[in-house]
Formats: sequence, structure tokens, C-alpha cells
Amino acid sequence: MNGLALAQQKMRDGGVAATAVDVFTRFYGLLESGSTGLVPEADVAPLTDVPHLEDLEIDEAAAAEALALTAVIKLNGGLGTSMGMDRAKSLLPVRGGRTFLDVIADQVLAARAATGARLPLVLMNSFRTRDDSLAALAAHPQLAVDGVPLDFLQNREPKLLVDGLTPVTWDADPTLEWCPPGHGDLYTALYASGVLDALLAAGFRYASVSNSDNLGATPDARVAGWFAATGAPFAAEVALRTPADRKGGHLVVRREDRRIVLRETAQTAPEDAAAAADIETHRYFNTNNLWLDLEAVAAELARTGGVLDLPLIRNEKNVDPTDKTSPKVVQIESAMGAAIEVFDGAAVLGVGRERFLPVKTTNDLLVLRSDVYEEDAAHRLVAVAEAPFVDLDPAHYALVGEFDARVPHVPSLRDATSLKVRGDWTFGQGVRVGGDAELVGDGGTVPDGASLDAQGTHA
Ligand code: UTP
Repeated sequence: MNGLALAQQKMRDGGVAATAVDVFTRFYGLLESGSTGLVPEADVAPLTDVPHLEDLEIDEAAAAEALALTAVIKLNGGLGTSMGMDRAKSLLPVRGGRTFLDVIADQVLAARAATGARLPLVLMNSFRTRDDSLAALAAHPQLAVDGVPLDFLQNREPKLLVDGLTPVTWDADPTLEWCPPGHGDLYTALYASGVLDALLAAGFRYASVSNSDNLGATPDARVAGWFAATGAPFAAEVALRTPADRKGGHLVVRREDRRIVLRETAQTAPEDAAAAADIETHRYFNTNNLWLDLEAVAAELARTGGVLDLPLIRNEKNVDPTDKTSPKVVQIESAMGAAIEVFDGAAVLGVGRERFLPVKTTNDLLVLRSDVYEEDAAHRLVAVAEAPFVDLDPAHYALVGEFDARVPHVPSLRDATSLKVRGDWTFGQGVRVGGDAELVGDGGTVPDGASLDAQGTHA
């Protein structure tokens, strides 16, 4: 059997839904053909004429009506491998000992109390995140909504040996032979799990989908009202790129069919790199806060047999991500936001940075845990100062376990513009960082009550 047939067999034997096997098969074809998914600058125009939430007049009654028809879906299938985790990032403590999931639960319950909307919370888990996450949500029994499950499971697929694209076997831990197919799997998983139908049957028309590591994506009646009024099948909340976002993905308009397309860094040819990095021309990035008209999505999935034409992401890793000597594998992935090009009439809405607070690194985690943010009555994180630029020594802080051991007490960052740490420093209690602070040298302990600033740099 060839690699594809072996992988398909493995998926069927493993009880993977037929639709997910079909989606995998399409991507495998793209992988074999060497598809790069490049989006040349010559084929696109900048995304312009984006409405901004703060400028919109939205009828309050219509907004409340739209929110009453909205379900909240949180992507929770990733493993936080960039921070050395092998479970859901959302189980990390982030505010006063509460985890991302606790804060999300509080946000949803507060929005229900304030608006009367039913607002079911539904997690998309993967086989690695389900048990822990559901156990954690059990602390919030009020979340359950009649007719709507608390979660649905992502599909899983075999990791493929780079050499030959056949499924890898790994006897030391056979669960590592499988991976979740990226968050583009949302559509397949919603469809194949029956949750899309369950939401429609329970009277929900819209879904507000976002990453569980983005506590900025709170339920928002005004956005729901805007989305319902557009009549669009699909919308993405977008934000203005800053110099720090130069290297990242952004949205463009394909000249050929005028569709909005997500162009990731990997989809930019080297000769277009400068054009793609021009944040004055290509002004917007995708926050991954998406809005789905569930009826339109159901119709599109029915039409395509559950296989949307999403671009392929070829993700190369080691079969055991913690063991760099283990065999190199390809993980076939796709991105949820890339579906913007699939839906005719997809819309975008400009939102402020307060709706985009992702935690990708321990640098982000430090700022989010700090006094830069306060939580309001709706459990929104409100920045009380501009977030400083934090750059912790990757040799000592990149993994969350290392980070927690060295930063048991979060320093005050309100007055900080930047904090750079080189060396192995452990933070004492009540440390305050101000201005542009830098810690260098081999390391040591930052004493209790110390003030770090440009003048007080330790060496
Ligand atoms: P990220 O890729 O940023 O987070 O996904 P991750 O996968 O948790 O971390 P790394 O890349 O391994 O370090 C953004 C969001 O998408 C979810 C994650 O849980 C996170 O909320 N996600 C990602 C899924 O639900 N499924 C996936 O297959 C991948």
C-alpha cells in the first residue's frame, strides 16, 4: 500500500469520521503535489474600506437579538507545544490563580447575566485536551445549556514520515503517532460531530469562534449585531498591524474573484517579502475571532460533503516534540481563518487590540498575569497601561515549567516600557519594573521589593 492508503486505513481503524478521512485525502494530494499555496503580490490588492467597530452605530435591540442567537465556541485543541506544554494552554493559571478556562467561564456567565442571552459555551477539544478540560469546566456547572454539548472533539490524523509520507509508528508512545489537524478542522469537526445540527436545532443561528488563549475575545453584543445586520455567511474580526506584526500573516483581496484571502508568512514568496511586510499597504491581520452564520456554514458543508477548499499548511516536527532526535514528521494542518476565501460575501470588521490578547509565549503570559491588566465587572481584561515589550531569555524561560520556577511572583509591569532578561534570574516578591529595564549576566535572585529600571540594571 502507498502512504495515502496506509494513512486512510489507519484513520478508519482508529474510528476517524469518514468526512475527516476525505479532508485528509484532499490535503495529502496537495502535499504530494508539492503545493506551496503561495499567494503572489501581483495577484492581490490590499484590503481596504474596512468598517471599524468603534465607528459603527448599532441598534441596541437588534444587537441583543443577535446575541440571543449566538453560541460561543472556543478552540481548545492545541497543545501549547511552543511553550513546552503537552496539554491545553487554557489550563494554565493566568489571573489570580484562575486558568484561561475559568476566566472564559466567568466572561460567558457575566455576559449572560448582563444580557439575558443563553450564550452556550462549547469547546473544540482534541483527544489530548478533552478529559482535562471537561474536568476543569466541572467547576462551573451553571455553564450547561439545554440541548448543547459542552464540547466536541476534533478529528485526528496520522503524523507522516517526512521520508516517504507514510504514517509513522512510535512504540514508545503510540498516541504520539497522531496529531490534531490544526484549527481549520473546526468545520469538519462541527459537521461530522453533529454539533452544527445540534446548535441549529437548539435555536442558535450564529457562532462567535475564537482561540481559548485569547481572553480579549469576550462575547460582544455589538459585534453580534453588526454581523447579523451584514447578512454575511462568515466574518473575521481584523486589527491594524503594528511594526511588531510586520512578519506575520495578513489579509489581502484576490484580484481574480475579489475574495478576501488570508496570506500567511509561509504563503509569501521571498521576492514578495518586502511588499507583504509593508503595514501601510497591507494594514490588517486576522485576530482569529470569527463569526459564522451556522445556516450558511451548514449549507456550504452539505454542498461540499464536508470538504472545504482550505489551503494546506505543511507543519514539520519531530514525532516526539520533546525529543529532537526522534524521526521528522509532517503534520497536515489548516487554519480556521483561511475559510474566509471559501465563503462568498465574507465580511471583515476592524476591532481594537483589546479583542486580541493571545498568549503564544511565556513573554505574553508574563504581561497577561501582571498588573498591566485589570479585570472589569464583565471579566474583560482592561489594560491600565501600555503593554511593555518583554523579552525573556529563551534559554531559561521559554518552557512554562522553567518560567514558573523563575517567576513565582509576577513583577509589577505598569510602569515598564520594556523588560529584557538575559541569564538565569529568579524574581522575588514585590519586584517593580519601570522604563526600559534589562537584566544581564549569569543570573541570580532579584531581591524582594527591588526596583528594576534602566539605571538599576543588574550585571
Ligand atoms: P496555536 O497554534 O496558537 O496554539 O492555536 P497551540 O496549538 O495551543 O500551541 P502550539 O502551536 O502547540 O504552541 C491557536 C488556538 O487554536 C487551538 C489552540 O487550542 C488555540 O486556542 N487549536 C490549535 C485547536 O483547537 N486545534 C488545533 O489543532 C490547533
